[in-house]
Amino acid sequence: MYIDPVLTTNFDRKLHSGKVRDIYDLDDDKLLMISTDRISAFDVIMSEAVPGKGIILNNLSKFWFDFFDKTDNHFISSGNDYDFSQISRFQSIDIKYLNRSCIVKKAQRIDMECVVRGYITGSAWEEYKLTGKINSRNIPSDLREGEKFSKPIFTPSTKAIEGHDQPLSQSEGENLVGKEIYTTLENISIDLFSQAHTHCLTKGILLADTKFEFGYIDGKISLIDEVLTPDSSRFWKIENHSVGTSPEPFDKQFLRNWLNNQEWDKSPPPPKVPDEILKNTLKRYINIYEILTEDKIKL
Ligand SMILES: Nc1ncnc2c1ncn2[C@@H]1O[C@H](COP(=O)(O)OP(=O)(O)OP(=O)(O)O)[C@@H](O)[C@H]1O
Ligand SMILES: [Mg+2]
Repeated sequence: MYIDPVLTTNFDRKLHSGKVRDIYDLDDDKLLMISTDRISAFDVIMSEAVPGKGIILNNLSKFWFDFFDKTDNHFISSGNDYDFSQISRFQSIDIKYLNRSCIVKKAQRIDMECVVRGYITGSAWEEYKLTGKINSRNIPSDLREGEKFSKPIFTPSTKAIEGHDQPLSQSEGENLVGKEIYTTLENISIDLFSQAHTHCLTKGILLADTKFEFGYIDGKISLIDEVLTPDSSRFWKIENHSVGTSPEPFDKQFLRNWLNNQEWDKSPPPPKVPDEILKNTLKRYINIYEILTEDKIKL
């Protein structure tokens, strides 16, 4: 199967090129957000694409925005369903970009990554092993790798303009966004996580952790960016989960694991990622998409 990869896009009025998404100004209150096939790990963009990944991210986020339709959010439409007849510069936009796009409401972003963890793994496990804490929070002392927390924990981080996002203690988070907003974001994030965790369980999947972003739209705190994708979350199959081990990942952890075995200091330039790793990453992204949505992805 050959999929034409999209590494970069180049239309008029590009506002921002993130690690994965290219953002365009559509009109006064809307953005066109194109999920490219770029992949980043440890905040470094790999030189290679995972062809088709943007389509999966775009469709999976749409699934979750539909799922969370009672939560204020930025989603307006998939690129495919949008009528561009009034916007001349996008009238002849190729279907390959539309398949990876959505139209969203412009938000004033809140600069904090709202991380929720249901199970101890990844950087949280590393920190806990060393310090017994996670983001400076006290955590019960007898947890093993991959173990479920008694309830999901909120471990936000900064949104670094360049380089690595920094974990925030509760008081640092409160200083960053304000105490009241912090509590609101914590409550919404944990509620969304819990709803998603329940859905995943019905499909035989454990949602280990995820990251949400929020912004203000018309004065209301709203869910923005991507939602519960394998780029922003960790997904495990229930049958692979066994406390004391790190389960097989159906998300970006697969690439991180490979990178952790390379001689690399996690700053640019990244190592060359072999084709086999890229293909295997895509396979896992397709797998988790199809399990969670019960839809067959068309790439
Ligand atoms: N509705 C929205 N309004 C404004 N900005 C948004 C909206 N939804 C998402 N964004 C921002 O668009 C960008 C999406 O691109 P991407 O996820 O590739 O960036 P990133 O590399 O994760 O983050 P950044 O570039 O901010 O460091 C992010 O900066 C995200 O905060
Ligand atoms: Mg992002």
